[in-house]
Amino acid sequence: MCLIFLQCLFFWHLDGVFGDEVKSVSVMEGDTVTLYTDVTHIHTDDVIEWMFGVQSPDEIIAELNREANKTSFINERLKNHLQIDDQTGSLIITNITTEHTGLYQLEINRKPSVLIRHFNLTVYVIPARLPVPVIRVSSSSSSSCSVLCSVMNASHVSVSWYNGSIIHSSISVSDVKSTASLHLEVEYHDSNTYRCVINNPITNQTQHLHINDLCHKLSVCVECCGFTEAVIRLVVSAVVGVATIGVVIYDIRSR
Ligand SMILES: *[C@@H]1O[C@H](CO)[C@@H](O)[C@H](O)[C@H]1NC(C)=O
Ligand SMILES: *[C@@H]1O[C@H](CO)[C@@H](O)[C@H](O)[C@H]1NC(C)=O
Ligand SMILES: *[C@@H]1O[C@H](CO)[C@@H](O)[C@H](O)[C@H]1NC(C)=O
Ligand SMILES: *[C@@H]1O[C@H](CO)[C@@H](O)[C@H](O)[C@H]1NC(C)=O
Ligand SMILES: *[C@@H]1O[C@H](CO)[C@@H](O)[C@H](O)[C@H]1NC(C)=O
Ligand SMILES: *[C@@H]1O[C@H](CO)[C@@H](O)[C@H](O)[C@H]1NC(C)=O
Repeated sequence: MCLIFLQCLFFWHLDGVFGDEVKSVSVMEGDTVTLYTDVTHIHTDDVIEWMFGVQSPDEIIAELNREANKTSFINERLKNHLQIDDQTGSLIITNITTEHTGLYQLEINRKPSVLIRHFNLTVYVIPARLPVPVIRVSSSSSSSCSVLCSVMNASHVSVSWYNGSIIHSSISVSDVKSTASLHLEVEYHDSNTYRCVINNPITNQTQHLHINDLCHKLSVCVECCGFTEAVIRLVVSAVVGVATIGVVIYDIRSR
């Protein structure tokens, strides 16, 4: 047994920052994770120590002394989150928070040898809900309508137009200080199969395009147009109106 341990010790000391392989463990906030000793069962005279530190494992946080049949959790801040499996000595961390991000060291003292392993635990924070994308009309003609899908205050997301289940177009947004917009041209007679989706690897938000509600309104409703366009339309219809009256009057007079 001792021989195997010494061999393992030798093997583990071949490479890595700590002279052994550092096992990377990634978890989400709120999860429970087990750092495994990979020891099937601990011996009666084993002493198991778990250490932790953000830069390096410099503080003992938990100890299992099999001979004294005693488990202690030393760090006040972490102790409510820690358990030790008394068969294997594995460290169980419950309800993980970002404070648990760091380096962990396992030390099994089995006289006369010491087994050491390292774990690099990274805790990911669940991002807040993504904003819902906003769809608006940018311009329209008699047959087609241009719409824009805009997203505010979201970073590391993709903004995509879906046509049914197919991605029609997509942009990646790494940092949005103001607004990211993605354009789409649709025909009035198109069916309502379009939706704008904003997503990151964890979550997404969808806004469906209702062509009739958005696009047809534009041709009859002044407040849907841009201000300049509205003014131009008003002026044009006024001029047309005056001209029409002029033509009618001229027509009447000439008779
Ligand atoms: C170890 O201690 C626990 C209580 O802390 C006890 O239930 C168990 O019987 C003890 N085991 C031995 C082998 O003394
Ligand atoms: C998990 O930790 C958070 C923050 O410390 C706390 O608010 C929550 O009640 C904990 N949940 C459980 C199940 O312990
Ligand atoms: C631990 O993981 C983090 C993030 O993945 C990395 O930046 C860091 O270099 C790793 N540290 C060690 C000692 O492996
Ligand atoms: C975007 O962020 C700015 C500054 O942080 C804030 O003033 C604005 O209200 C935010 N807009 C939305 C739609 O959340
Ligand atoms: C969306 O899909 C429909 C049906 O497949 C197709 O007729 C239409 O041209 C597509 N729209 C665009 C903008 O590609
Ligand atoms: C959006 O998220 C849900 C689960 O929350 C997933 O089922 C769906 O496929 C995602 N949609 C896209 C377009 O990523």
